[in-house]
Amino acid sequence: MTTLPSPRFSNQRDAPALRWGVVGPGAIATDFTRAVQAHTTQQVVAVSSRSAERAGQFAAAHGIRSSYGSHADLFADPNVDVVYIAVPHTEHVPLALDAIAAGKHVLVEKPMATSAADAQLVVNAARAAGVFAMEALWAKYLPKFDVVRQLLEDGALGDVRLFSADYGFRAPYDPTSRFFNPELGGGALLDLGVYLVSVASFALGEFSSVTARGQLSPTGVDVQSSLILDTPTGAQAVLSTTLLADTPSEANIIGTGGRIAIDRVFVGPGGFTFSPAGSGAVRFEDTSGLLWREGLSYQASAVARFIADGLTESPLHPLDETIAVLDTLDEARRQILGGGSIRSMEAQ
Ligand SMILES: NC(=O)c1ccc[n+]([C@@H]2O[C@H](COP(=O)([O-])OP(=O)(O)OC[C@H]3O[C@@H](n4cnc5c(N)ncnc54)[C@H](OP(=O)(O)O)[C@@H]3O)[C@@H](O)[C@H]2O)c1
Repeated sequence: MTTLPSPRFSNQRDAPALRWGVVGPGAIATDFTRAVQAHTTQQVVAVSSRSAERAGQFAAAHGIRSSYGSHADLFADPNVDVVYIAVPHTEHVPLALDAIAAGKHVLVEKPMATSAADAQLVVNAARAAGVFAMEALWAKYLPKFDVVRQLLEDGALGDVRLFSADYGFRAPYDPTSRFFNPELGGGALLDLGVYLVSVASFALGEFSSVTARGQLSPTGVDVQSSLILDTPTGAQAVLSTTLLADTPSEANIIGTGGRIAIDRVFVGPGGFTFSPAGSGAVRFEDTSGLLWREGLSYQASAVARFIADGLTESPLHPLDETIAVLDTLDEARRQILGGGSIRSMEAQ
């Protein structure tokens, strides 16, 4: 009977407590703040918004001591160690650059930027300033992915040849929402495709070619797309994403020595089945009891450990990997949307 490795770092409360500033009191900031307050020793000490009133309401709702009607004021707060950038995609880079210039460590929501070139600006600035920077690819810090990582490192799957996954949900059509508005970086690829390509590269490594097909919304963003990514050794990732319908949102990592089927929703807390070639399947169950975005807490604990260890990037999701994933998404979006679709701040 095959036995699975145990997840490491599952005790979130042993991570040193950092003082967090949350930028953008919206949907994900709410889930992040609740998750870290419920499951970690991390402290959310400040929040900023474009409106002092909205920041104040968020602070009151979550027991946060400082609220600011300007992001610059939060960056200037000496009681903030690390800033969580939780605004629409197109605002990530300018705000991350300002936070880094103020000497803060940054956790930037996914995607770090809307192009690889813009993400490189954040990476260059963080490296020059010597501060910690990470894209909030929270899936990589979940217990199940640590077990999958150990299986891959141990060669339990043999030669990994195929990764297949889908991720989609039905977003009500609203041309002004961040899902459909091109001015806010709308589209399925930047919102959900970033997970697909990140987890695919976790399983297979870097890709050497991209083939992408998709459909556009009336606002001109990609609403549904499928990608085939090839590695230099001919292994492939086959990925689909949509904003038009709920998909199974499952993932499969398939090698010559066995396969792993990750339950829906594969980017959140949950289990998987490992089927080694020639012997019985074994299950990994997530026993933490954490549901869906409560799992955001794992990445916050990981950031705290990395910073306490003096690291300036995540060993589990290095900055060069963030750039490589965005490079793949740039190419997929070019193929679906046309050459002018990848806007870079540097070019403006
Ligand atoms: N990790 C995950 O599971 C996950 C899930 C959802 C979203 N996300 C990511 O988190 C980011 C935010 O998503 P969300 O759904 O939380 O967004 P949201 O609720 O629409 O917006 C977040 C906040 O950003 C500010 N904001 C809105 N539009 C803005 C604009 N045009 N310019 C500057 N600030 C603006 C607003 O705060 P004020 O108006 O008060 O300033 C708003 O409360 C996205 O990049 C997304 O990819 C991650």
